Amino acid sequence: MSLRLGDIAPNFQAKTTAGDIDFYEFLGNGWGILFSHPADYTPVCTTELGKTALLQEEFAKRNVKVLAVSVDPLDKHLGWVKDINETQNCNVGFPIIADEDRNVATLYDMIHPNASETFTVRSLFVIGPDKKVKLMITYPASTGRNFYEVLRVVDSLQLTANYSVATPADWKEGEDVIVVPAVSTDDAIKKFPKGVKVVKPYLRYTPQPNK
Ligand code: BEZ
Repeated sequence: MSLRLGDIAPNFQAKTTAGDIDFYEFLGNGWGILFSHPADYTPVCTTELGKTALLQEEFAKRNVKVLAVSVDPLDKHLGWVKDINETQNCNVGFPIIADEDRNVATLYDMIHPNASETFTVRSLFVIGPDKKVKLMITYPASTGRNFYEVLRVVDSLQLTANYSVATPADWKEGEDVIVVPAVSTDDAIKKFPKGVKVVKPYLRYTPQPNK
């Protein structure tokens, strides 16, 4: 059965470009991103892994460990990483799983047979410190993902995990956030000393509380 938001992300052991790992040990108590790509030595995948490598510091700042996966073998991954580093001007420092037996792809339902019988689609999971699935996105092979959007969602997830707020459309770090409906306006005024702007009884904004 496929995973849903709030489900426990399955643990696994895998062979990677950084040696054998146990997924939960790799994650430790922090956040994680597990993302699949269809195949090594392909153009869109090369740019995606390069962009992720260029954003490694941004992920680290947010206490997010990144792990890539495809069904290609380890030696192919290792050769391809050299090309990614050369062409994308980066240094891939995160592991890439060699999922030849499709164990990870199957656990995370990353093969969509009507798109491709053999390759993983572009799936991406954000996993919280509680090991629960917080975000799932799925893109087709022909469309590279927006990794700034992934960072933006991580910012929202980390904020909303700690405060009774939600983030509006197109929100970015530092912008006003929304008071969740479960909090009354009277309580919101006490909880959010920076102020509460009531547009409608159900639409209330407050400055980002952790800024
Ligand atoms: C790519 O990464 O460029 C790609 C992979 C599979 C199908 C189409 C494009």
